[in-house]
Amino acid sequence: MTTETSTKENNSFVLRGIKDVTFEERPVPKLAGPHDVRLQVNYTGICGSDVHYWQHGRIGHFVVKDPMVLGHESAGTVVEVGESVKSLKKGDRVAMEPGVPCRRCVRCKEGKYNLCFEMSFAATPPYDGTLAKYYVLPEDLCYKLPESLSLEEGALMEPLAVAVHITKQSGLKQSDTCVIFGAGPVGLLCCAVAKAFGAKKVVAVDINRERLDFAKSYAADSTFEPSKVSAPENAQRLISENALGVGADVAIDASGAEPSVQTAVHVLRAGGSYVQGGMGRDEITFPIMAACTKELTVKGSFRYGSGDYQTAVDLVSSGKIDVKKLISRKVSFEDAEQAFEDVKAGKAIKVLIEGPK
Ligand SMILES: NC(=O)c1ccc[n+]([C@@H]2O[C@H](COP(=O)([O-])OP(=O)(O)OC[C@H]3O[C@@H](n4cnc5c(N)ncnc54)[C@H](O)[C@@H]3O)[C@@H](O)[C@H]2O)c1
Ligand SMILES: [Zn+2]
Ligand SMILES: [Zn+2]
Repeated sequence: MTTETSTKENNSFVLRGIKDVTFEERPVPKLAGPHDVRLQVNYTGICGSDVHYWQHGRIGHFVVKDPMVLGHESAGTVVEVGESVKSLKKGDRVAMEPGVPCRRCVRCKEGKYNLCFEMSFAATPPYDGTLAKYYVLPEDLCYKLPESLSLEEGALMEPLAVAVHITKQSGLKQSDTCVIFGAGPVGLLCCAVAKAFGAKKVVAVDINRERLDFAKSYAADSTFEPSKVSAPENAQRLISENALGVGADVAIDASGAEPSVQTAVHVLRAGGSYVQGGMGRDEITFPIMAACTKELTVKGSFRYGSGDYQTAVDLVSSGKIDVKKLISRKVSFEDAEQAFEDVKAGKAIKVLIEGPK
């Protein structure tokens, strides 16, 4: 152990209870195994789930019982490597995949490690998040950033990996048409991934005009603002206004809103593919007749799995996707709470918090 790892110089942004956050000097985390690396966290994006834990102290059955460090969308710099680490060295800049699976269970062994029951995921209770000076991860969950990518862009690899996984789940093919509900960070990135994967037409749907305007300037070919009519009526107008013929090939929900899910089912062509990426109310009314008679493929999507993070890095480094445009502003670590306020108020797309100096 180095002298550094025995000190308590790990400034962390901690959620103590509902709407109660503070800064704490916590112990510097130690490498848990020979394949681990210790990272100095440079940038962390704020996600809706971080805001939700801060506001409500829970998401579904995940309840914050003990103080927990927030944050899971981070990029950092390697400061210490375990003795078996081969792919990384001190000073390397990496995107940090923030969930460590058990690697032993059936889901892990079949390659779907995002479905691991024993996943230790940053800022999902009881596991601490990445809004700290230091964080330890196994080397294979650190994705080296090419020279051309900044650490700020590195922090955006997390939501981009979410969008990559959702889009892969949809089975979207070259020249497909795709409707994406919700133009927040995840929906916007799904638009970008769908275009990068060869979609002929991507339609972004949102109830917020500003977000739709941004989507149009970012990666959507056209946009749609639903009206207060039934889902089949909105779907009909969506199809005709966007020249989707007999319906879209792929529909993705990245809003978690019941009307979006219903409209998505009605907007699809027979044999189309639907992916549930958004999380909202636990239970909703689902149009089973349309889903059944159109023989839709309906899938969920949870976080990211094998290859998704690397695909995210590759899509940005090859110039196919620009994540810089999503960064609304950066704040210092001391102003972390303000960043949460901004995201909650919908004032920003992505706010990045700089790591403690
Ligand atoms: N599946 C996963 O692993 C995963 C990972 C991260 C986030 N998520 C979920 O993805 C969703 C999107 O995340 P985000 O960070 O972009 O959130 P966000 O809240 O920024 O974006 C959601 C968007 O949906 C829009 N919306 C709300 N009601 C709507 C409606 N009726 N019709 C159309 N649009 C509507 C909102 O205006 C907003 O722009 C959230 O539900 C989040 O929980 C899922
Ligand atoms: Zn997130
Ligand atoms: Zn497992």
